[in-house]
Amino acid sequence: ALISMRQLLDHAAEHGYGVPAFNVNNLEQMRAIMMAANKTDSPVIVQASAGARKYAGAPFLRRLMEAAAEEWPHIPIAVHQDHGSSPAVCQRAIQLGFTSVMMDGSLGEDGKTPMDYDYNMGVTRKTVEMAHACGVSVEGELGCLGSLESGEAGEEDGVGAAGKLSHDQMLTDPEEAAQFVKDTYCDALAIAIGTSHGAYKFTRPPTGDILAIDRIKEIHARIPDTHLVMHGSSSVPQEWLDIINEYGGEIPETYGVPVEEIAEGIRHGVRKVNVDTDLRLAATGSVRRFLAQNPAEFDPRKFMKEALAGMYDVCVKRYEAFGTAGNA
Ligand code: G3H
Ligand code: 13P
Ligand code: NA
Ligand code: ZN
Repeated sequence: ALISMRQLLDHAAEHGYGVPAFNVNNLEQMRAIMMAANKTDSPVIVQASAGARKYAGAPFLRRLMEAAAEEWPHIPIAVHQDHGSSPAVCQRAIQLGFTSVMMDGSLGEDGKTPMDYDYNMGVTRKTVEMAHACGVSVEGELGCLGSLESGEAGEEDGVGAAGKLSHDQMLTDPEEAAQFVKDTYCDALAIAIGTSHGAYKFTRPPTGDILAIDRIKEIHARIPDTHLVMHGSSSVPQEWLDIINEYGGEIPETYGVPVEEIAEGIRHGVRKVNVDTDLRLAATGSVRRFLAQNPAEFDPRKFMKEALAGMYDVCVKRYEAFGTAGNA
C-alpha cells in the first residue's frame, strides 16, 4: 500500500533502522526494488527525479507506482519526488499521487544556483503548507552537496560560479538546521556531509576529513526528532566497476560512501538514504557482461533480465545493511 514518508520514517526512527530511497525511471528498476523488498520483508521508498518524469512520462511513472502497490499489497511504499526545484513542481507531484516530496530550496529553480536561507526557508515552508494539507510529507535540504576534497559542489549542484567553498560553507550547520526545521515544519531534512551525486565522490577511500559522519551526530543531537536524509549515498562497489571495465567500459578509479559509514549515520538519526548510482552501475555491468558473453543475442528481455538481477542484488544488500529488512 502507498503510505506517506512520515509514517514510514517514524517507524524507522522508532525501531532504529534506515531505509534506502532508490530512484526509479523504468520497469526493471521498479521490479528489482520491489522484488528485493519482498524477499527481505522491507518497507520501500521509491523516488522519481524531474529527469525520470522526462524519461518515462508522468502517466507511466504513476502507473509504475500503482502497479507496485497492486502486485505487492503487503509492502508499505512511499513514493517521493526527488529534488523538487519549486513549490509548483512539488504540487504537480502531489497531483500525480506522490506521497512525499522534496523541496530542494538549497538551489534555485535551475537546480544549480545556490540560494540563501530566506529563499530556501520560504519555498520549503510554502511546500509544507500545501503538502501537509494533502497528507503528503516534505523533505527539505540545508547545506551544499559536494566535494570537501576540492571544495566544489557536485556537478548537479554546480556551484562553479560561486567558486571554491570552505568546509564550513558546505557542511550543514546544526544551529541553522534547528532554525530551519522550526521555521518550515519539514518532516525530513537532507544534510550536507561531503557527499556528492554520481560515481565520482572521492578520489580515495573516504576518511573523516572528507566524509563528515561526525557532523551527522552533531545535527542529530540538536534536532533528535527530525528524520535526517543522506543524499549521494551510493557506495560505488568496486566489484561492479571491475565488471564494467572488464567488459569494455572505461570508468576511472573512484570511491563512494562505504556501507559501514552509512550504518554509523543510521545509528545517529539518518533514516532515508538516497541511492541511484549503485543501481546504474549494476545495470551497466550486467548488460555489458551479458552482451559480451552472448554476442549473438538480440532479445532485449535477455539483457534487461540481467540488469534487473544486478540491481536486485544491490537492493537486497542495502535493505540488509541498513536494517530495513524484516520491517515491512
Ligand atoms: O539526484 C540525482 C539522482 O541521482 C537523479 O538523477 O536527475 O539523472 O534522474 P537524474
Ligand atoms: P547517488 O548518486 O550517490 O546514488 O545519490 C543519489 C541521490 O542522492 C538522489 O537524490
Ligand atoms: Na529526495
Ligand atoms: Zn540527491
